[in-house]
Amino acid sequence: MTDYLAHKPVMVNEVAELLVYEARGIYVDGTAGSGGHLSFFAGNYPEAMFVGVDIDPEAVQFLLNKFAGATNVRILRGNYADLPELLQGMGIAKVHGVLLDLGISTHQALSAERGFSIKNPGPLDMRFSADQKVTAYQLVNKLSEDQLAEILYKYGEEPKARKISKAVVEARKMKPLETTDELANLVVRTVGYSRGRIHPATRVFQALRIATNQELENLEEALPRLLGVLREGGRLAVISYHSLEDRIVKQFFKTWEEEGQGVRLTKKVIKPSLEEINDNPSSRSAKLRVFMKGVGGSEK
Ligand SMILES: C[S@@+](CC[C@H](N)C(=O)[O-])C[C@H]1O[C@@H](n2cnc3c(N)ncnc32)[C@H](O)[C@@H]1O
Repeated sequence: MTDYLAHKPVMVNEVAELLVYEARGIYVDGTAGSGGHLSFFAGNYPEAMFVGVDIDPEAVQFLLNKFAGATNVRILRGNYADLPELLQGMGIAKVHGVLLDLGISTHQALSAERGFSIKNPGPLDMRFSADQKVTAYQLVNKLSEDQLAEILYKYGEEPKARKISKAVVEARKMKPLETTDELANLVVRTVGYSRGRIHPATRVFQALRIATNQELENLEEALPRLLGVLREGGRLAVISYHSLEDRIVKQFFKTWEEEGQGVRLTKKVIKPSLEEINDNPSSRSAKLRVFMKGVGGSEK
């Protein structure tokens, strides 16, 4: 059973302070998820308009119900990389701000049937949307040992990537690995499990999710397009949870600033307070970066 209420939005105050600069502006939450950030924004800035986008049809259904009575929120299903086209469909050319809160929401992480969960057995799926062709099952059962090891090492920073991919290739000679628990148990048998440490398959699951959804490629393709939909003075805020994601965001923002396309509002990355981490341990790896388009402009 999917628990949408389990997700706590990360750094809401910090994001709002840097993103929402014009009280009557139009803002997009490109990864609206359970609507945590969106609720906060819509409640605190009643004169602004907020567009919530998510690629996951289940999340979109939840958001449509949640915001059914909200006059300043619109919900759309889509990939944030397609934001220019999605906005064009609503007759909007430019917006004041875009937020991306990357990764996975708590409801997805806990959902057994979506195949993201190490603890709740389900099919090896891990797609954000059923439209996507490749599933984690295909990666686990069809890639060569080297290809699999590269994914685990690159996207999961898994030091035992080679040992695990060798074990996967051995195991699937008998029969394909079909479920999350088959894979998680195989990782435990291969590398061991020390009490008190994170589950040894955590990095493997993260790597497969990133590869299945081509998350880094999508982010790289999307960032310039998102800059394109901002008006002068508009802001792009990105919360990332993975060092490779953060590196991509950091590099784009730096390059844009060097090119004179605007300025970084976060010269130093912003991280959640200790208080927030205590209250919501899933926020611990979050990093917020914000870019403002145009040097001093504030076109309205
Ligand atoms: C960390 S959650 C966002 C949570 C949200 N900020 C909240 O407060 O409830 C990330 C969301 O991004 C969505 N997502 C992932 N990739 C996406 C993409 N390419 N386009 C749109 N949404 C995406 C996921 O489906 C998930 O719901």
